[in-house]
Amino acid sequence: MNATLNRWLTGQIGDLKSNNLYKEQVVLESPCNNRITIGGRTGIINLASNNYLGLANHPKLVAAACEAAQTWGAGAGAVRPITGTLKIHVDLEKQLAAFKHTEAALVFQSGFTSNAGVIPTITDANDVILTDELNHASIIDGVRLSKAQRKIYRHCDLGSLEDGLRASMAASKRLIITDGVFSMDGDIAPLPGIVQLAKQYDAAVMVDDAHGSGVMGGGRGTAYHFGVHKDVDIQLGTLSKAVGVMGGYIAGSRELIDWLTQRARPFLFSTAQPAPVVAAIMAAIDLMEHDSSLTDKLWENAAFWKSGLQGLGFDTGVSQTPITPVMIGEESMAMNFQKALLNEGVLALAIVYPTVAAGKARIRTMPSAMHSQEDLEDALASFKRAASSVGLF
Ligand SMILES: Cc1ncc(COP(=O)(O)O)c(C=O)c1O
Repeated sequence: MNATLNRWLTGQIGDLKSNNLYKEQVVLESPCNNRITIGGRTGIINLASNNYLGLANHPKLVAAACEAAQTWGAGAGAVRPITGTLKIHVDLEKQLAAFKHTEAALVFQSGFTSNAGVIPTITDANDVILTDELNHASIIDGVRLSKAQRKIYRHCDLGSLEDGLRASMAASKRLIITDGVFSMDGDIAPLPGIVQLAKQYDAAVMVDDAHGSGVMGGGRGTAYHFGVHKDVDIQLGTLSKAVGVMGGYIAGSRELIDWLTQRARPFLFSTAQPAPVVAAIMAAIDLMEHDSSLTDKLWENAAFWKSGLQGLGFDTGVSQTPITPVMIGEESMAMNFQKALLNEGVLALAIVYPTVAAGKARIRTMPSAMHSQEDLEDALASFKRAASSVGLF
C-alpha cells in the first residue's frame, strides 16, 4: 500500500470515528423480512429496508428466479449491445412500458446507473439542467457527468424553479429533474406545477421515481398518482426497492429509448442483468398489476406507524409517504439513538451529514407491507424506551 495514500485514508477514517460519524455495516444473518437476525440476535424488527411490499422474498419471485436460472443460466455473459440481450430482457421492457403507460422502456443494472445513463446522454453543453436541491445522489452524479449548465432550485419551490427557467431561455434545451418521492424526507414533488412550468418554458421533465415505483399511483408511480404521466418525458424507476429485486429503468417515448440504446454508457459498457433477476422482476410487476392488496397494506401500516410515533411525541417531519423520518437534529444524538433502538430490538438507521444537511440528522424508518400490527406496536414501545434511555425526552 502506498504510504501517502494509507496515511490519508487512516486520517479520513479517524476523523469520521472521532466525530461519531463512522457507519459500521449492518450484516443480516437472515433474509430481509419484517424480523431479522443480526449478530446472532433473532426477531429484530426491521424498519430500515426499502423492501416496501415484502417482494424481496416473495415465493413467486423466488420461483421465477429459480426457473429462469435453469432455463437461461446464472449470467447474461455480455453487455446488452453485444450478446447480453436475452429475449427475457425484451419481454421485461415491454411489460414495464405497458405498466407505465409509455411507448417504451429500457432496463439498466440499477437505479443509480439509470441516472448515470440517461442524464448526460440527453443533454449537452448548450443545455441547462434544473435540479431540486434535495435530489438523490445518483441524480447529482448524473448531472455532474453532463456538460450542461446546472441550476439548483430550492426544494419543491415552484417560484425558484420558474426563476431558473426564465434565466435559461437562451439555452438549446432545458431539462427539469426531480425525485418523485424524496428519499430522506418522504415528501412528494409538486409534479402538476412542475409540468405546467415545463410547458410554459419549453422544458423537458424527468422524474426519478425510485421511491414512488410500487408505492404511489397503485404502484405505477408519482406521475401516475397525479395523472400527469403523459406530460413527464422521462420516468426513472428502480427495480431494487418496492419491486424487491435489483435494477432500474427509463420509461418514455420510443425516440428516447432508441437514443439511449445507442449512447447510454452503462447500457453500452456494463454487463446485462442476469435472467433470474429479470424473471423475478417480471413476477413482481405481474403481482403489482393484478393485486393491490400489498400496496394497500403498505399505506395502512404507514398511517398506523406515523400516527403512533406522533402520539409518542416524535417529529416525523414533512413526510407524506411510507418513508417516515424521526427528526433528531444533532448527529451524535441520532447515532446514539440508533444504537439504543438496536438494543431495544429495532433496526432503524441514523441518517446524518453529509447525506442530509448538518443539524438535520434523523432516524429513517420504513414501515412496509411485511409488518404485522404486533411488529409495529412492539417497535413503538422500543422507540419510547430508547428515547428515554438516550435522554431524548
Ligand atoms: C431517488 C433515488 N434514485 C435512485 C436510487 C438508486 O436506485 P438503486 O438502488 O436501484 O441503484 C435511489 C436509491 O436510494 C433513490 O433513492
